Amino acid sequence: MKHILVTGGAGFIGSHTCVELLQNDYSVIIVDNFINSSPEVLDSIHRITKKDFAFYQCDLLDEDNLSRVFQEHSIDAIIHFAGLKAVGESVRQPIRYYFNNVSGTLNLLRQMEQHGVNRLVFSSSATVYGENNPIPYREDMPTGQTTNPYGTTKAMIEQILQDQCKCNSQWGVMLLRYFNPIGAHPSGLIGENPNGIPNNLMPYITQVATGKLPYLNVFGNDYSTSDGTGVRDYIHVCDLARGHVKAVESLFDEGGTKIYNLGTGRGSSVLEVVKTFEQQSGVPIPYQFAPRRAGDLAEYYADASKAERELNWQAEYSLADMCRDSWNFIQKQTPNTTGE
Ligand code: UFG
Repeated sequence: MKHILVTGGAGFIGSHTCVELLQNDYSVIIVDNFINSSPEVLDSIHRITKKDFAFYQCDLLDEDNLSRVFQEHSIDAIIHFAGLKAVGESVRQPIRYYFNNVSGTLNLLRQMEQHGVNRLVFSSSATVYGENNPIPYREDMPTGQTTNPYGTTKAMIEQILQDQCKCNSQWGVMLLRYFNPIGAHPSGLIGENPNGIPNNLMPYITQVATGKLPYLNVFGNDYSTSDGTGVRDYIHVCDLARGHVKAVESLFDEGGTKIYNLGTGRGSSVLEVVKTFEQQSGVPIPYQFAPRRAGDLAEYYADASKAERELNWQAEYSLADMCRDSWNFIQKQTPNTTGE
């Protein structure tokens, strides 16, 4: 049985990945500082899987504490999710973002070196493709023209990991570039429920659906897309989680860096998401058109064929499934709301 350390394992993508790992008989050690998650998620992971796992409340910036985890477990590989992830906040707090995401990762890598761990899957993002690539995005396209500090931390960490693999052939790293993860576990026990006013489309829509927010602002209706609104490649978080297990399975085959897009290969507009959500929930989502959001691109989606070819992974859930599961989760969080 392989022992997988999951940093940020209580977060949105991390928690779904832990479920998938446990259901595939991996032993899981979760490290999380709960900065953007909560201890109840751990109970939910246990309720879904009926499996035990180790947990450490630990910030990656606290290297002494982190070192304890490596001392107490024989770790075969790491899936590294932990990091700050709000694009707008990263523009306002660049030092915090660079320090947290880059230094946290460097501490983790130093501990890996010290304890002879040399396999890692990194939670990267389609944001590293920047502004200048044609769509669909392919893994061999140039990266780094990022438009905000959050995205730049992802590009920097990708670079650090590639440099490490170049200098030490014993290391094996996978960079997984996610597109737009939404949806939730079908049990409704884990999902995405950010504090405060959400930045991202689906959490915003679900808060409009529950009556917490009055209407959705659709940022831009004059893009050159099918209906003028922004187009993204939305992917069900459970498909993404399964992609991580596939990545871990082939992580031990050989060393070096491998890069995979995790997307569906299909773009959906904001209005398409709104309409599909309304159909799945039966709840109308009032919206108004607002100016374009700074830094947004009109349209992008993945070329997802490399992961299919090499990892034997393909997204299975539809946009309707994603909307249904997001709604199911949020209803379970906020009983007695519209639609109950
Ligand atoms: N949108 C709205 N109204 C909202 C929120 C979003 O119209 O209230 C629109 C955006 O303009 C965009 C689409 O919905 O067209 C998706 O926006 P999100 O904020 O949900 O997602 P982004 O594509 O902007 O960003 C996501 C992640 C980032 C990641 C990026 C790159 O949030 O972490 O994808 O793949 F870097």
